[in-house]
Parts: sequence; structure tokens; C-alpha cells
Amino acid sequence: MLEMIRGDIACVAARDPAASGTIEIVLTYPGVHAIVWHRVANRLWRRGLRFPARFLSWFARLLTNVDIHPAATIGRRFFIDHGAGVVIGETAEIGDDVTLYHGVTLGGTSWSPGKRHPTLEDGVLVGCGAKILGPITVSKGARIGANSVVVDPVPPGMTVIGIPGRIVRPLADRRRLSGRIDLDHHLMPDPVGEAISELLDRIDFLEARLAHRERRDAQATGNRAAEIPAEEMLQ
Ligand SMILES: CC(C)(COP(=O)(O)OP(=O)(O)OC[C@H]1O[C@@H](n2cnc3c(N)ncnc32)[C@H](O)[C@@H]1OP(=O)(O)O)[C@@H](O)C(=O)NCCC(=O)NCCS
Repeated sequence: MLEMIRGDIACVAARDPAASGTIEIVLTYPGVHAIVWHRVANRLWRRGLRFPARFLSWFARLLTNVDIHPAATIGRRFFIDHGAGVVIGETAEIGDDVTLYHGVTLGGTSWSPGKRHPTLEDGVLVGCGAKILGPITVSKGARIGANSVVVDPVPPGMTVIGIPGRIVRPLADRRRLSGRIDLDHHLMPDPVGEAISELLDRIDFLEARLAHRERRDAQATGNRAAEIPAEEMLQ
């Protein structure tokens, strides 16, 4: 556990340019305090000490304004910048190197017990005020824009913005398309170029979503599709 806490503290310097030293981070970052309290509460919870775990997370919320259920699973090098107003539900699962800004909710959409909160895979970034709701997966390296509301699974490496969340291509990626079409000239309006770039975006998005869904279906069916002969699949 100490190793994990060390990782939580060390990752702040890389993700917040305002951080000016370990002592400052340890003493003044509520997001760091919240994860340290959570690591302890989670250990109590896993040992069956449920009331002490709940009490500790309530106390941590008083101090940090971050509400993490002690049963939530959180990976290494987790950082909540600013802390304020973050809520992480009981069945949320968070991978390694995940960053949340203030006001993020990882919440449920139903009152039935069981998995009802999101899963965030490694390297996900969630902007301030974003809400991710339901037992959906935000895959590796995805980025959720500030104030988005996300209720559908997010494929790896994608950026999602808006309400309801929709996938967009990062500007940097679109500039890489410039071999296919010049998106960088600003001398005159180019509605045809814009329409084509929208279509390329849409195709990229649909391909990514299809690949994500196929992978998920293959996992769910124990990869039965791989056993079906190709001729049969073409019929
Ligand atoms: C989404 C985010 C991670 C950027 O991701 P990215 O993959 O680099 O995406 P880009 O910046 O290339 O933007 C892609 C498009 O989404 C738009 N966009 C980006 N963030 C948005 C947001 N939160 N809401 C609405 N639109 C947004 C951009 O304007 C751009 O639009 P365009 O296609 O019309 O040009 C970033 O904008 C963001 O919201 N970060 C959160 C930062 C934060 O919470 N800071 C708080 C510090 S206290």
C-alpha cells in the first residue's frame, strides 16, 4: 500500500505544472489526501471491516470534499486535480495512470445492486465537471471533455465531448490527415473540405466503434466467432 501511495504522490508533479515540490503536494493537495484515505478505507473494506471503512471515507470526504466509496477499485498513480466535488461510486473500477479533474462523477444509473458504475481503463483522463454514468467501459487512453455526460462505452484512445457524449477526433490527429486533404489553410472558407473532413471523422469514429464492439462481443461469447469457418460467415 505504501508503494501505491508513493506512486500517487509522485505522479502529481508530472500532471500538474503548478506543483512545486513533494512537501507542497503532500500537505496541500486534497486529491492526494483523498486517495491516501481511500487506500486505507479500501483495505479495511476488503478485510470485511465495512463500518470502519465507511466511517473513514465519510471522514475523508469532510476533509477533502471528495466522495469515494471504500469498495471502489483504484489502480496505481491515480490523481484527482483540485479534488472538489468528485464522486466515485461503489462498483467503479479505475485502472493505472488515470486523472480526474474536479466535479467528476463516476455514478450509477440504476438502484439495482451489482455492477452499476463505470470502468475506466489505464491512462484515461476525465475533464472537470464530466459525468460518466452506468456500468460502461471507458477504454485505455480515452479523454473525456470537461462537462460532458457519457452514458455509452468509449473505444480506446478516443476523445468524447458534449451532452450526450459524442466521439470527436483530436485536432492533432486531424492535422495528420493533411496528406489526404488540406485542413490547415485559413485563407478562404472551404465548405467542401470541411464536409470531407467531417466524413473522415465519422468514418474513423464508426470504424473505432465497430472494432470496439466486435472485441467486446468476442470476449462475451468466449471468442466463438473465431471458431466459425470463414465460408459460413460469408453466407
Ligand atoms: C477533451 C480534452 C481532453 C481535449 O482532448 P483532445 O483529444 O486534445 O481534443 P481537441 O482539443 O483536439 O478538441 C477536439 C474538438 O473538441 C472540442 N472540445 C474540446 N474539449 C471540449 C469540451 N470540453 N466541450 C466541448 N467541446 C470541446 C474542441 O474545440 C475541438 O472542436 P473542433 O473539432 O470543432 O475543432 C480537453 O478539451 C478537456 O476538456 N480537458 C479537460 C481539462 C480540464 O478539465 N481542465 C480543468 C483544469 S482546472
